[in-house]
Amino acid sequence: MKTNISLLPYHTFGAKVNADFFTTFSNKEELTTILDQKPNDQNFIILGGGSNILFTQDFHGLIIKNEISGFDVISEDDNHITLKIGAGENWHDTVMQTVEKGWQGIENLALIPGTVGASPIQNIGAYGVEVKDVIQKVEFYHFDKKETFEYSNQECAFGYRNSIFKNELKGKIAVLSITIKLNKNWHFNTSYGAIEDEIKHQGIENLTPLDLANVIIKIRESKLPDPKEIGNCGSFFKNPVLPKKDALKIIEKYPEAPHYIVGEEAIKIPAGWLIQTAGWKGKSLGNVGTYPKQALVLVNNGGATGEEAWALALQIQKDVKTQFGISIEPEVNIL
Ligand code: FAD
Ligand code: EPU
Repeated sequence: MKTNISLLPYHTFGAKVNADFFTTFSNKEELTTILDQKPNDQNFIILGGGSNILFTQDFHGLIIKNEISGFDVISEDDNHITLKIGAGENWHDTVMQTVEKGWQGIENLALIPGTVGASPIQNIGAYGVEVKDVIQKVEFYHFDKKETFEYSNQECAFGYRNSIFKNELKGKIAVLSITIKLNKNWHFNTSYGAIEDEIKHQGIENLTPLDLANVIIKIRESKLPDPKEIGNCGSFFKNPVLPKKDALKIIEKYPEAPHYIVGEEAIKIPAGWLIQTAGWKGKSLGNVGTYPKQALVLVNNGGATGEEAWALALQIQKDVKTQFGISIEPEVNIL
């Protein structure tokens, strides 16, 4: 157990914050020992890679960092392979391990930072794929019930950047492993415009999972800041999904507004476009700004506090609400 520890190495925004206590666990037994030994009234969180968290102040409590490893084949036939992966594994390394073996399913999710255990929490997604598309089971430990559960894909109640773990089970469980099913017969999703362009640009003819992962990496590197160089937490807000009639009013007023049809009655309008149109693209407030190539990403221009980032987020939220009447909600976990 470490005390009064700097959280700089443990989250991607780069805010100078400390935690009162910090420890790690590599299996369920270590986790239960930590929970049994800690004072009942002590605040705690399970931490993965810290890539979807903004610490707005010092953390007065215990940070419990998940370091459970494991990459096991559960079953295999001619068409599929089912893997159980430890929650502390790095997500991107896991993607690369699978694509290098020719297993298809998570190549579009390459280069998303963080751990495997956090992937079902907000149902990570990118380039037309979400982790829910491959998840068979999520194994987790319930703090109050002191029991391990295995939820099926359906029980996880996945939605856009959402799951049961962000709702009823928020703060009540630790994900221990996920089980995913991948394809040996490839069914690629290249529907996102930039993917086809990049495949052509690279002159790829017989696309493999590894090729597609590399295409995604190239696209992401051209759009998103590398947290090792510029502190950030990815998209700060979720893209708002609006009732069709509200979205159509905006599209009528701003015919250039990008939008995606979601079912019969809803339309998603990118928050990045709303923020840009509200005048915030590449602008800063104190040491925090929006990334010049992607207004949805708040960046630490050096020495920023989490409090400053939150102040900018609130100002952006307010301006988007004033101009468009739309409330944009943070995707990032604010502490
Ligand atoms: P953390 O930030 O450590 O934790 C996030 C939340 O999950 C916290 O509430 C934490 O308490 C909880 N948690 C973490 N692990 C566990 C566990 N084992 N059990 C229970 N609760 C847990 N996300 C996308 O969906 N798509 C993207 O394309 C994407 N791109 C990104 C790009 C960049 C540059 C960055 C910085 C972030 C991006 N993200 C993206 C967000 C982020 O990478 C994901 O949300 C990721 O899953 C977070 O993983 P983590 O291990 O860092 O979680
Ligand atoms: N756009 C602008 N201005 C901007 C940014 C975007 O007009 O400053 C427009 C783009 O031109 C495009 C549209 O908005 O028409 C969508 O932009 P982009 O393709 O960059 O995707 P996004 O909606 O901003 C989402 C996810 C990302 C994910 C990408 C790729 C959310 C909140 N974000 O971003 O996820 O990687 O799509 O699929 O859904 C994350 O969650 O942290 C994250 C990075």
